[in-house]
Amino acid sequence: MSEPQPIHLSDYRPPAHRVTRTELTFDLAPGATRVKARLHLERHPEREAGEPLWLDGESLVLKSIALDGQPLEEDEYQQSNAGLKVHQVPERFILDTEVEIAPSENTALEGLYQSGGMYCTQCEAEGFRRITFYPDRPDVMATFTTTVIGDTQSEPILLSNGNPTERGELPNGRHFATWEDPHPKPCYLFALVAGDLKKVEDHFTTMSGREVTLQIWVEEENLGKTEHAMESLKRAMRWDEQAYGREYDLDLFMIVAVNDFNMGAMENKGLNIFNSAAVLTHSRTATDATFQRVEGIVAHEYFHNWSGNRVTCRDWFQLSLKEGFTVFRDQSFSADVNSAPVKRIEEVSFFRTAQFAEDAGPTAHPVRPDQYIEIGNFYTLTIYEKGAEIVRMLCNLVGEEKFREGSDLYFSRFDGQAVTIEDFVSCMAEVSGLDLTQFMRWYSQAGTPEIDAFGEYDYARGQYRLLLRQRTPATPGQSEKQALHIPVRLGLVGTKSGSDLTLTLDGESLGTDAVIHLREEEQEFLFTDVEEAPVPSLLRGFSAPVKLAFPYSREDLAFLLANDSDGFNRWDAGQRLTLLALDDLIAAHRNGVEKVMDSRVVDAFRILLEENSDDKAVLAEMLTLPSEAYIAEQQPLVDVDAIHAAREFVRQSLAHELRDELLAVYRTNQSDAAYEPTPEQIGQRALKNVALSYLMSIEDEEGVEAAKAQFGTDHNMTDVRHALTLLVHSSCSEIADPALKAFGQKWAQDPLVMDQWFSLQVTRPQPDALDRVRYLMEHPAFSLKNPNKVRALIGAFANQNRINFHRLDGEGYRLLADVVIKLNRLNPEIAARIITPLTRWKRFDEQRQELMKAELERIAGEDLSPNLYEVISKALA
Ligand code: ARG
Ligand code: ZN
Repeated sequence: MSEPQPIHLSDYRPPAHRVTRTELTFDLAPGATRVKARLHLERHPEREAGEPLWLDGESLVLKSIALDGQPLEEDEYQQSNAGLKVHQVPERFILDTEVEIAPSENTALEGLYQSGGMYCTQCEAEGFRRITFYPDRPDVMATFTTTVIGDTQSEPILLSNGNPTERGELPNGRHFATWEDPHPKPCYLFALVAGDLKKVEDHFTTMSGREVTLQIWVEEENLGKTEHAMESLKRAMRWDEQAYGREYDLDLFMIVAVNDFNMGAMENKGLNIFNSAAVLTHSRTATDATFQRVEGIVAHEYFHNWSGNRVTCRDWFQLSLKEGFTVFRDQSFSADVNSAPVKRIEEVSFFRTAQFAEDAGPTAHPVRPDQYIEIGNFYTLTIYEKGAEIVRMLCNLVGEEKFREGSDLYFSRFDGQAVTIEDFVSCMAEVSGLDLTQFMRWYSQAGTPEIDAFGEYDYARGQYRLLLRQRTPATPGQSEKQALHIPVRLGLVGTKSGSDLTLTLDGESLGTDAVIHLREEEQEFLFTDVEEAPVPSLLRGFSAPVKLAFPYSREDLAFLLANDSDGFNRWDAGQRLTLLALDDLIAAHRNGVEKVMDSRVVDAFRILLEENSDDKAVLAEMLTLPSEAYIAEQQPLVDVDAIHAAREFVRQSLAHELRDELLAVYRTNQSDAAYEPTPEQIGQRALKNVALSYLMSIEDEEGVEAAKAQFGTDHNMTDVRHALTLLVHSSCSEIADPALKAFGQKWAQDPLVMDQWFSLQVTRPQPDALDRVRYLMEHPAFSLKNPNKVRALIGAFANQNRINFHRLDGEGYRLLADVVIKLNRLNPEIAARIITPLTRWKRFDEQRQELMKAELERIAGEDLSPNLYEVISKALA
């Protein structure tokens, strides 16, 4: 392996030169696009005179270079594979360069590339350096003017950031368009799109009465799939005005859908570029989950216009400044426009599964890392989701009103600047008067804090003593951890009354639901005037991103499940109760002892089904078992087979015991109302489909008939896909095979539906799943060059089909490693992501450890991209 060097936060210095104005001209051609750049540069006031000019640049063929109009001689500059140095430059000057690049050869999908017939860009984090020579760092902010020249036939539409100012015809069937973006921006927010696109247009009047034109640009066949994204955009624009006082600042806002995209979407100024999977929806092609995801991502990218674009990051170590805050903003938006408790349950169950695993693995890193080799590897659950949890804690600590005051201050004080996480937190400290010094450790310390809680009720004194102990396990490069400032929201639920008791702490009454602050490694809280013995409801709403253990009995948990006033903790009590039962069953499986179902779980589920008192979406969540991945997360050493067997046993036992109740829930929640992605309909479908899953787990005759009918009714993709998945995952091949085939033929031309068709096949638990992956990799609709396809087939198999991926013959690991080796050349960013399950090898038994490690070593033998080098060297350290 070659050895790329890490860069360090502590080495930050402002750039020697800054760009105030950038003028670009693109002359598009697939294999030889010409890019002319005119940069207006000046010395940075904080840096000394006489320093050379450094411009980043990768895979660029330099055609010409001139300083203040004078072509540079060869000894006046020096080019390397990382960029270009001009030895002597004046205080202020203009630099003209022309380079040639090849969008058609760009399979990494960073910089300027082709997706289908169109050209598009992805510049965050460091893609702009593949377009032209430039100080490619977020603390260099310039206004941009961009002229795009393309073919009149194949690229009738030419887009860039800002407002269109000029367009016209050119000789040889060419034409051009010029765009001006008046807002200074870092180059990672630059965007260009050119192709044969069609638009849907709408309008939005901002709070101060300005008219904004909204456009969604897609390929013609997708024109019917933009409505939900457009409605979501308008909702998000209104919400940001109301919740944060943020108004849009250009006359035009554009979204473009592209099929080949590494991530979900990108917040380029005025021209958001989206993975088509994150923007296109139709009731016949997209599931409820996709409708909700689209709404969230459209909002996320829009919200970046303030949290990211107007106020941006000083350097990439501060990535969570914009991402953590923007995820928090999109989560709050989605909670407001949908069912808030369900949104929180979904967020937390995902977070505790995936982010906890990241924080416990070899690539664990702080929310603000202090070093990295490849920033592309840091678009992680830790930076995004844990970053959002930190912002949520801040909001809860200072209160909603002060939080808004703090964010107003942040946006006004730092508008147009590139700033740090301290700048954000200090605004919150300033408006609230709180000391957030200890709190800042959340940003620098990796790993998931663990809290051990103990409680004791003193009948004679009427006191409840709560002891909290925190520790954060060591993570790579951080063996010593300091105590964190952890807000623990809690209530004490009276065992007689079943309701929240008044909390009195140090003589002060805190109401029935309060936040206590854990700052020490060990801290005791003595609640007085506690009239009856309580069961504590701790960490309500998941008030901090920690693991909390309390020695609850199963009776305690059943009690909380029935009585907790906090919806999130009611759900969590159910999860904890099921996990205890699963623990016993996992042990029984390992010891070869007969498995016995815990009747307390059956009783709890029966009550849920019979009382039917919850919001349907909440009830569906309550009835959903913890995933295999989450169960694995609880085990000291993961036993893949025992987890699968135990979970199946619980599923089937519940289905047998509660068969009639489940069938009744299924039947009463069927509806032929026209599809709408409303929270009510989504909740109803979720509930019905959970019930159907249970029935199908025992291949109940009426369940199978129901699944078959649901598939055949073809009412909406949520129901169709769910029914098809259940059939394909069952042994009913005489129904499943023709259904699968019909579905594949019907949707052969729709890549987003084909992604679903791939995923649902390779996640089946039967032992032929791996052969199906290999077989489907040859399918004409599959391509390793398309990240959505890689995720749908390889990602789904490796992450969601644990028993088959972890086969004891090592074939699952080999398959993933083969793909990673190919992607290392094609698309390093995707390669470094898709490899994740292999990097977690230390969590498994010895036999599997050996097999996984061997595959990592085989990959390490290749000529690795910096992306994979960084991940593999951490995984093998
Ligand atoms: N800023 C984008 C978002 O969160 C993500 C872009 C990440 N791009 C990448 N190549 N890693 O909305
Ligand atoms: Zn983002």
